[in-house]
Amino acid sequence: MVQIEERGAHSSPAAPRLKESIVERACKLACVAALIVMLVVIGVDILTRSLFNFSFEISDELGGYLLVVICFVSLPVCVASDWQGATPTLPAGIEVASHAACDLSPIDLSSPASALRLAAYVWPDQRERLERLRAAIALAQYLGVQVERADALDWVGRELSVARPGQATVLYHSIMWQYMAQGSRDALREMIAAAGKRATRDAPLAWLAFEPLAANANPQLLLTLWPGGQRHVLAEAHPHGRWVRWARTALTAPDP
Ligand SMILES: C[S@@+](CC[C@H](N)C(=O)[O-])C[C@H]1O[C@@H](n2cnc3c(N)ncnc32)[C@H](O)[C@@H]1O
Repeated sequence: MVQIEERGAHSSPAAPRLKESIVERACKLACVAALIVMLVVIGVDILTRSLFNFSFEISDELGGYLLVVICFVSLPVCVASDWQGATPTLPAGIEVASHAACDLSPIDLSSPASALRLAAYVWPDQRERLERLRAAIALAQYLGVQVERADALDWVGRELSVARPGQATVLYHSIMWQYMAQGSRDALREMIAAAGKRATRDAPLAWLAFEPLAANANPQLLLTLWPGGQRHVLAEAHPHGRWVRWARTALTAPDP
C-alpha cells in the first residue's frame, strides 16, 4: 500500500496529512501476516528436513497462495466497482510511452493541504467514495502525475499537432465536456476530427470520452477510433464508478 505522507517532514511541520483508511490498514496487516506465515512455514520445512529428513510438503503451494494475497492487497488502488457484462478482450500488455493532462484549475496533490481540502468536498457519509479518492490521490502522488493549467482547446490543439510515429494516441476526458461553451465544444470536435484524418495504422488516434449524453443521464464510455472514425459505446457507468456496465456489443455512438 502507498501511504500519503508529507514530502519533506521539515519543510512544513504543521501541514496536515491524510489518515490511513481502515481498508489500507487491513491490507497492510494482511501483508505482514502473510509474510510471517510464509517465513514460519519455510523455517519449519527447513528444520524438519534437516533434522528428521521429513517435509510437510506444503510450503510450495501455500507460498504460492500467500504471494497472490500479498500482490493483491498491496495494490495501491482497488476500485471495488460492480462490474457488469462481459469484459472486453484486451491485449496482455499495453505499454504507456508517456502521459500528460490539463485542467483549467488543477489541484497540486503534492501538497498535503490541497489533498486534504479535496477530500473535504466529499460528503462525510460517502465512505467508499472517500476511500477511492484517497487511493487515487496516493497513486497520483506516487506516480508524480502533473496536470498542466490550460484550457482544453489550447492544450489539445498543441498535443494533437505532435506526430508520434509508431504510437497510438489516446485522448481521454471525463465529466468535463458539459462545462465548455458550445463554441469550444464544436471547435474541439473539429480539431479532433482533423487529427483523426491525419491518423494512420502506424499512429492511430483514439478519442475516449466518459461523458453523459444528456442532462441527468448516466455517463457513457464513448470511443472513436481513427483511421476510419468508427464510433462505439463501450460502457455505461455510475458517475462515481459505483458500477460499470460493459456494452454487450460495441454500439455505434454519437459524439459527446
Ligand atoms: C466535474 S470535474 C471532472 C474532473 C475529472 N475529470 C473527473 O472525472 O473526476 C470537471 C473538471 O473540468 C475542468 N474543466 C472545465 N472546463 C475546462 C476546459 N475548458 N479546459 C480544461 N478543463 C476544464 C474543471 O476545471 C474541472 O476540474
